[in-house]
Amino acid sequence: MFHFNSTYSYRLYNILNNTTPFRDILASTSNPLPTFILPLIRSSIGNSMEKTDDNNDYYDWEKEVEEFEKTKGGVKGLVDSGITRVPRFFISPPEPDDANPGPHAHPDALIPIIDLEGVRGGLDHKAVGEIRTASRKWGFFQVVNHGIPTTVTDAMLRGTRALHEQPKEAKQELYTSDGAPDVRFYAINGRLEEGDVASWRDAFACKFTDGEIDPEVIPPVCRDEIMKYMKHMIKVRDVLSEVLSEALGESKDLLGEMQCMESEYLTCLYYPASPEPDKSLGTVAHSDPTVLTVLLQDSTGGLQIKHDGCWIDVPPVPGALIVNIGDFLQLMSNDKFMSVEHRVMSRSKGSRVSVACFFFPRGQQMANIYAPIKQAISPNNPPIYKQVNYIDFVTHYQKRNLRGGHSALANYKLDNIN
Ligand code: OGA
Ligand code: NI
Repeated sequence: MFHFNSTYSYRLYNILNNTTPFRDILASTSNPLPTFILPLIRSSIGNSMEKTDDNNDYYDWEKEVEEFEKTKGGVKGLVDSGITRVPRFFISPPEPDDANPGPHAHPDALIPIIDLEGVRGGLDHKAVGEIRTASRKWGFFQVVNHGIPTTVTDAMLRGTRALHEQPKEAKQELYTSDGAPDVRFYAINGRLEEGDVASWRDAFACKFTDGEIDPEVIPPVCRDEIMKYMKHMIKVRDVLSEVLSEALGESKDLLGEMQCMESEYLTCLYYPASPEPDKSLGTVAHSDPTVLTVLLQDSTGGLQIKHDGCWIDVPPVPGALIVNIGDFLQLMSNDKFMSVEHRVMSRSKGSRVSVACFFFPRGQQMANIYAPIKQAISPNNPPIYKQVNYIDFVTHYQKRNLRGGHSALANYKLDNIN
């Protein structure tokens, strides 16, 4: 079968984008372009001579994405191959909102840091109140004294790095954009369509449906680290489930009884340096569609959340975990808790690792109906959202026009709500 080498593909990309002088390419003797590309270049060079920055629009999107996927090397593979420009499907358009922050915008604002020490021993009204305010106003908070020893979190971060820094060949077998397997490497999750923007990072994901996975399917380089981390993560989930239930003004068992956080999707993320950090984003702006996310980040920073119309940093706090409300919990809480847009900036040097654990309903609950809980509804607070099952909700989220910062929630608003 005809095989199109990706290195050529990216060089072709550069030529077509008018980013590499054509004569340099022709002059390069190492790695010469195959002859079948030349007619393509000739037919485009006439155009590219006339091209201006505004008129630089020939780009075979589908082919470029396909060629990238075929390498099964992810973003790290691109960087290791020595590319000096970011392929166009990673380039984020400028954000109009940056110029238009809200009235309370404060770029130096700090997301709350909440001590869980007291909560782990039982009810702690102070922490419950802090989490209620943080979930409503910020959608994001950091927790300290959460019970996971730093030896475990450090090992998890090191294991994540080891996973991604294995030779490409060791990762290729598990590389797929298809979400079905229990474990996989990917850079593009699902199908990237024209107009979507890819994130400048690689992921390794493990699916714990109903909390279960066969440890043997996890690569040995990070197997023990993941299994140990997840054991602790479940305890953190249980503590958060109780505090969030109380913060909703309910018995601590409310969310537990709804079985809405009993499956986990763990993603071990690796953000390589970008040759054009101003053009790419480590993770493009989005909100998480799930119920709750617990994130462990290394000490290098880069995560930002949208707060009062401003992007603000989520600074690394040694030993802390970051917690954020997902779209599905915003729906269930009838906007008492908010799911907030966030992104990760690209860097010019060094790499970043982070580990995101997404919580969502038990397998048998996924097809059941969830709706705003009755405790969040009153005559003054009528339901904002329709009832929906989790599978439909996530399927809708994954549709193309919902990527890039647009939450799935708008689709589930009741008609009488603007
Ligand atoms: C995510 C995410 C942030 C990070 O994976 O949904 O927002 O810091 N990750 O890696
Ligand atoms: Ni996220």
